[in-house]
Amino acid sequence: MTTEPLKVTTEGDLLGVAGHNSGTVNITYISQRLSDTEIHTRKLIERSPYLGLSKFETKDSSKFFGRDTWISELTDYFKQNNVLLLLGASGSGKSSLIRAGLIPALENQPGYEQLVNLTFVPDANPFQSFHSSLLTKYKQSEAKLAQAVKEDTLVKVVQSLKWDSQWLIFVDQFEELFTTTPKKERDFFIKSLIQLIEKSDTSVKIILTMRADFLDKLSPYPKLGKIHDSYSRMLTDMDDNDLRLAIAEPAASNGVTFEQGLIYQIISDFRKRAGSLPLLQYTLNELWKKDNIQDRVLNIKTYQDLGGVTGALQKQADKIYADFNEQEKKAAQNIFIALIGLERKEAVSKRADITAFEKEETQKKVLYQLIDSRLLVSKREDGKATTEVAHEELLRSWKVLQNLIRDKEEIIVLGNRVSADAKQWDELRKKNPQKANNELWIGSKLGRIVELEQEESLSNLDDVTKEFIKVIPILYEAAYNRENKLDKLK
Ligand SMILES: Nc1ncnc2c1ncn2[C@@H]1O[C@H](COP(=O)(O)OP(=O)(O)OP(=O)(O)O)[C@@H](O)[C@H]1O
Ligand SMILES: [Mg+2]
Repeated sequence: MTTEPLKVTTEGDLLGVAGHNSGTVNITYISQRLSDTEIHTRKLIERSPYLGLSKFETKDSSKFFGRDTWISELTDYFKQNNVLLLLGASGSGKSSLIRAGLIPALENQPGYEQLVNLTFVPDANPFQSFHSSLLTKYKQSEAKLAQAVKEDTLVKVVQSLKWDSQWLIFVDQFEELFTTTPKKERDFFIKSLIQLIEKSDTSVKIILTMRADFLDKLSPYPKLGKIHDSYSRMLTDMDDNDLRLAIAEPAASNGVTFEQGLIYQIISDFRKRAGSLPLLQYTLNELWKKDNIQDRVLNIKTYQDLGGVTGALQKQADKIYADFNEQEKKAAQNIFIALIGLERKEAVSKRADITAFEKEETQKKVLYQLIDSRLLVSKREDGKATTEVAHEELLRSWKVLQNLIRDKEEIIVLGNRVSADAKQWDELRKKNPQKANNELWIGSKLGRIVELEQEESLSNLDDVTKEFIKVIPILYEAAYNRENKLDKLK
């Protein structure tokens, strides 16, 4: 157990490091230490302390609760280790724990005062993504080195830039290496990462978070498999006490409490609904927005009017969708189709370039409405604006998307495959056009994709994919004729 410095807030409350209770000092939280009446005498902050559908970032550490034991154990873990592979179910809170819990806690540890936080998601080119994360601290000319798709890149970047600082390299959503990154970049990045890990430099801490259902993807990489064997931890569910803190503490710090029995009801609904943390966070935010905060109590009646935990999310999504006219609904569907992938029949969220949806006016308008109402999120990554479904829970619990996935399954699957193959074809043809053409699709799959393209069922394809589809029949025909001629000459 560790004894860590305490923070005393302006309200005079004792908080653990980054708001968590850690070590041998028994800190009690506002919601546990004060009575409701006492909490009501605090300064009232009307702005919601819940994140809704947004993700926890490091700046949100003061709103992050319920993971004390994990933060404390992982802080200790990094005294002995340099690498962590954090596994867990989708939406179990891996990214949040690292971003809003562990990183702020580490920054408060002796020796980590100058911690350089290099957080990124792999995306199509993990070297490029790493490079972007370096730009928060280093100049373009210094960071350039990180762009080389080579085995020794990471080691070289550390050697030339780190000096005597302490680095934290956090590759969040490590599974993107297997869903979004092409094989070449993936292989080099994994090799590069292994090389760096093998250096065992105690001033470079490395954290990877990955959905546990991607574990079998490590099989072709034996050294990564070994890292998993030695350095992985499985993030487990929050218990009722953790949940109580995550629910009550943000409100209490704003001077607000819950009506007697409401926290219990929310926890029990949460348990029945397969424990989705994103939904819980969304519901709490909705509850806050709907209730009269001036009276400082969040009410059971407001919660029931929202339809409980799942009701809140669906209601919001339904309302936005119902306000669209037919043309807008179609545009929204086309956007969602481009943002959904299917893996082993499970719908997963996919990121796409925003520009793909900005070409047509209605679609552009609908896109921004979806972003404003938080059904989609937009980000800037690697100098490009991207968008994705705000939370995967929407794919699982919103009827409109469930129906869409059911009706358009073939289009989603083929659309995903054709754009992935087109990307590969595009890269290959730059080096070896003949080999690239051999990669072209043939047979019934080709016929169907051309058919779908012609009836405009495949909207929002990127330019390379459009070209790929256009060029396949032409080249295929040419190859067929050539072979026929050769046969005749024989
Ligand atoms: N300690 C917490 N207290 C309250 N809500 C939380 C907590 N941790 C996570 N959440 C909620 O759950 C959502 C999902 O968390 P997060 O994105 O960290 O999960 P994840 O395991 O990284 O998911 P994915 O598998 O999609 O990467 C967050 O956006 C937040 O709304
Ligand atoms: Mg995550």
